[in-house]
Amino acid sequence: MAEESTIIGTDVTRVDGFLKVTGGARYGVDYKLENMVWGVGVPSTIGAGTIKNIDTSAAEKMPGVLGILHHGNTEKLYRAANVFEESSRPGESRPPFDDDGVYYYGQYVALVVADTFERAQAAAASVKVEYDAHTPDISNDELTPKDPPAVKYERGNVDSALSGGAVQLDVTYVTPVETHNPMEMHATIASWTKEKVTLYETSQGVVNHRNVASEMLDLPREKVEVISRFIGSGFGGKLFPWPHSWMAALASKRLGHPVKVSVPRSLMFTTVGHRPFTRQHIRLSAGQDGKLAAFDHEIFQPTSMVDDYVENCAEVTSMLYSCPNVRAVQHVIHKNVGTPTPMRGPGRTPSLFAIESAMDELAIKLNLDPIEVRLRNYAESDEGSNRPWSSKHLREAYQVGADKFGWSKRNPKVGSMTQGDEILGWGMATCTWPATRHDAEVRVSLMADGTVRAVCATQDVGTGTYTVFAEVISDRTGIPLNKIRVELGDTAFPPGPISGGSSATATVLPAIAKATDQAVTALLHVAALTAGSPFEKTDPKTLKMTGGRVHAQDKSPDSGMYFTDVLKLRRFAALDGQAKTEAAPDAKQFSMHSFGAHFCELAYDPGIARLRVTRWLSVIDGGRMINHKTARNQILGAVVMGIGMGMLEETVYDPRNGKPVNNNYADYMVAVNADIPDLDCIFLDYPDTHLNEYGARGIGEIGLTGCASAIANATYHATGVRVRELPIRVDKLLQKT
Ligand code: MOS
Repeated sequence: MAEESTIIGTDVTRVDGFLKVTGGARYGVDYKLENMVWGVGVPSTIGAGTIKNIDTSAAEKMPGVLGILHHGNTEKLYRAANVFEESSRPGESRPPFDDDGVYYYGQYVALVVADTFERAQAAAASVKVEYDAHTPDISNDELTPKDPPAVKYERGNVDSALSGGAVQLDVTYVTPVETHNPMEMHATIASWTKEKVTLYETSQGVVNHRNVASEMLDLPREKVEVISRFIGSGFGGKLFPWPHSWMAALASKRLGHPVKVSVPRSLMFTTVGHRPFTRQHIRLSAGQDGKLAAFDHEIFQPTSMVDDYVENCAEVTSMLYSCPNVRAVQHVIHKNVGTPTPMRGPGRTPSLFAIESAMDELAIKLNLDPIEVRLRNYAESDEGSNRPWSSKHLREAYQVGADKFGWSKRNPKVGSMTQGDEILGWGMATCTWPATRHDAEVRVSLMADGTVRAVCATQDVGTGTYTVFAEVISDRTGIPLNKIRVELGDTAFPPGPISGGSSATATVLPAIAKATDQAVTALLHVAALTAGSPFEKTDPKTLKMTGGRVHAQDKSPDSGMYFTDVLKLRRFAALDGQAKTEAAPDAKQFSMHSFGAHFCELAYDPGIARLRVTRWLSVIDGGRMINHKTARNQILGAVVMGIGMGMLEETVYDPRNGKPVNNNYADYMVAVNADIPDLDCIFLDYPDTHLNEYGARGIGEIGLTGCASAIANATYHATGVRVRELPIRVDKLLQKT
């Protein structure tokens, strides 16, 4: 591997691309099972209260209706034990139909099953639910903590240091609820037979989903199989399982049919998570030189009535900048909303909007360049955990970005840079995301048909996981990519990690490498130890595999034989290697994070207060890129999402009943092509070998962190308006100018 690799670090095209564009990739809802029927959920139309009565009499008589499940007639499920965070974690821990309570608008109160989707939908509309409704508590104006803080970090003495220093800042930033909007909506097909339950899902964590199913449905793990071969993205919303999965399973059990339950777009805004609102109060003090003396970060974040979800905005505060006195405290407050869940870059994404906006405000107060103020507070080690960095090249990211973007030509005076009738704004921000690695187990088989098959119960959420896994096998065996079959997304395979926290690549690569090497070692042994082999009675250690051929180390590959001929010697169908790898051994010693810098140019038309991002550059220190094409795709995609977060995205609730009023693609604004300018990104490509032998980190999330603040900072530079409440819409500029 490493230096001489002809495939690692190149621009390989996705190995599953052909299947995807030809319709050959099967997503969860694409499975057509024999005798399959359709379930349509009935969502609550109140945001808080109790169900007084459910009248199903009309619906039951409608054609094709097979059954209606609700709290009054359905068995109670168990709760997932969830003792260790990642072992069996549900999205919403309250099982469906658990009681007569309604905790948020759009909570499922019944499921109607019929022989066609249309009949199920018509009958679901005829179910009459009587409620005892209260006004839901959804106001984010009152986020009064009742419990001790969910997160509390402090070093030094913040209170005394805050009043010292040459300058102080005391400001509050707000990020709204954002909703995951993957193209592929959530859905489950549940097939409950005597032998086992199979769940066809769209899941970023099939093993976790299987474990939760086992606990909630009270079945041994080996009697539950979760399948998710292709995923139309998830952004975190599919990390943990949601109530529709259990409704499908319950209905299949009761009716003896496979049951398909899809979550319509409108309920994607209520029952499958969202990024919670945050209000972040930042107070800081600094010397005239820009050096931070104290940094105080207090975060208020709502969760649902039924779960204690923490969007940890405090964690990054402890490590991003060098500062002797730092405090980060986060309060979590229960509200009548669905349970929030991780959304691309959870915690750090909203947190960096606040921190990186505050650093810009500090630079302006001191008349310092925004990059300079960051360099003066550069953290040479992780002061939060008192550990050295495993690999950090943020200084270079600032430098490379500034050079390429032309930062030295920036006139810091507000509104001073013009282009025709428009005013240009230039802003920048730091981005960062942790590098983590978990347990993974992989089986790699050298097959008699000339292919290599690799299996692991992780999944490709759409990021290129199939591709980078195949690249590693090809790298180690010299067998071309078109002969390598990676199969993921089935709990029948050896257990793999969630596709989350940008950790799947770093986690699975070492296991793939080890399993591949084991399969090759087995092959060399067969070549050396089999009667009639040209290598008979040689020491297997003197053999190697190159370009798929086994040969003596001191001779050319041509002198040897193709691996399939070795298998033929013994009539083997396959030779397997299976390996399990664990968290990075150096993880306790080093603090492992990716870093980077975003540079944003936008154009402001003062006549009509129109703001458009016109140019973007991201420089990413994200370890070694295994595949530059898919990596670039991740960063550019994240910046598109960042432009959405900065300028468009906000889930708006009706205060009367807690209904998300913009629960559709027309009203919930995400960035579209018209909003996206020229985007560019540069990878510094320093391997982080403390994390794994390839030096690969993850890059699914870092690209979104920091984006919104780069936009806010550029907006200030153009307009003189400091928008501290996302999204930055025209009305906010008009109000203040
Ligand atoms: Mo990511 S929010 O861990 O899918």
